[in-house]
Amino acid sequence: VPKEIKLALLGFGNVGRALATLFQSKDKELQKNWGLTCLVTGIATNSHGIALEPKGIPIEEALEIIQQGGNLSRLSSGDSAKDSLDFIEKCNADVLFENTPVSYDTGQPAIDYLKKALQMGMHAITANKGPVVHAYRELSALAENHHRSFLFESAVMDGAPVFSMWREALPGANLQSFRGVLNSTTNLILTLMEGGKSFQESVTYAQKIGIAETDPSGDIDGWDAAIKIAALVTVLMNVPLKPLEVKREGIREISKEVIANGLERDKRWKLICEAHRDSDRVSASVGPMEVDANDPLFNVMGTSSAITFQSDVLGPLTLTEEDPGPHTTAYGLLADFLHAIRSS
Ligand SMILES: NC(=O)c1ccc[n+]([C@@H]2O[C@H](COP(=O)([O-])OP(=O)(O)OC[C@H]3O[C@@H](n4cnc5c(N)ncnc54)[C@H](OP(=O)(O)O)[C@@H]3O)[C@@H](O)[C@H]2O)c1
Repeated sequence: VPKEIKLALLGFGNVGRALATLFQSKDKELQKNWGLTCLVTGIATNSHGIALEPKGIPIEEALEIIQQGGNLSRLSSGDSAKDSLDFIEKCNADVLFENTPVSYDTGQPAIDYLKKALQMGMHAITANKGPVVHAYRELSALAENHHRSFLFESAVMDGAPVFSMWREALPGANLQSFRGVLNSTTNLILTLMEGGKSFQESVTYAQKIGIAETDPSGDIDGWDAAIKIAALVTVLMNVPLKPLEVKREGIREISKEVIANGLERDKRWKLICEAHRDSDRVSASVGPMEVDANDPLFNVMGTSSAITFQSDVLGPLTLTEEDPGPHTTAYGLLADFLHAIRSS
């Protein structure tokens, strides 16, 4: 008999919806290969209402309601929740997926949501970088005390196995430094500028295709890259680091002339994220740099990203991710879910 697992989705935007769709398409496989029947029993949003349904929420209908700009509460049969914390208390789920917007400076309110979920005995899984950077140790300790998992694979490089590779596949290895292209929007902008577009034209195009936000400053001024560096250093180097401690420069000063000049010399401009361990301290930075044609980051184009790790045991190890999007982020969350179920 398959084991029934109840899922609660906090945040039902691009990522939350892609996750619900992935659970639907993996339904039979999860039953057959994992012995699991997964049921979404709660979905909470900020302005599109909250649905609580112990018998399971019909995902197609929930997606339809959001598409029409409607309110999810009409999918609840009984209990209602007044806010997100109340939702976590009432959802009676085994796993909470937290996919609300990132807060660079505090990680809140997501941290409180994840804490509440762990205290209620749920696994807490997120794609949000904020709680990783601002509460990694606290949330991990809380998870351990409750014999649950706190996992966040999708917080950096979407579904690419950055965190789990270190946790599961490289026992005994120590990370000494890394260098990568971790922000899709700026890499796309730089790629478009190589094609002759100005900085502003490239930003506008990236906004039009839904890659850059209306206010693109989080990406182009390096904040998104800085918080990803901080998350990697905090978790993989075990040195707590805040985004403000990352030396940061964005790509506003890079003109298409500067880029064309680099290309003439067979070099490309990339927004490079770096961190190095120096005994018990770590120095970290993000900024635009010219890279040579023989650099593993040279051919990382468009929305792709890549990272090269240096450890005390292996030579440079590079992970490249092409064509990311909410569907690959959703896979990272599903992978976390299966890790959590397997280890509980
Ligand atoms: N997009 C990606 O591919 C990607 C990749 C890696 C990581 N992430 C991370 O994943 C998270 C979600 O991203 P997204 O692209 O799905 O964002 P999004 O499309 O803006 O969706 C955010 C969702 O959270 C809801 N929400 C906001 N505040 C809430 C609150 N206090 N309580 C409950 N729900 C709340 C929103 O509700 P309303 O719509 O009603 O306001 C919406 O459903 C972010 O932390 C992001 O950094 C995203």
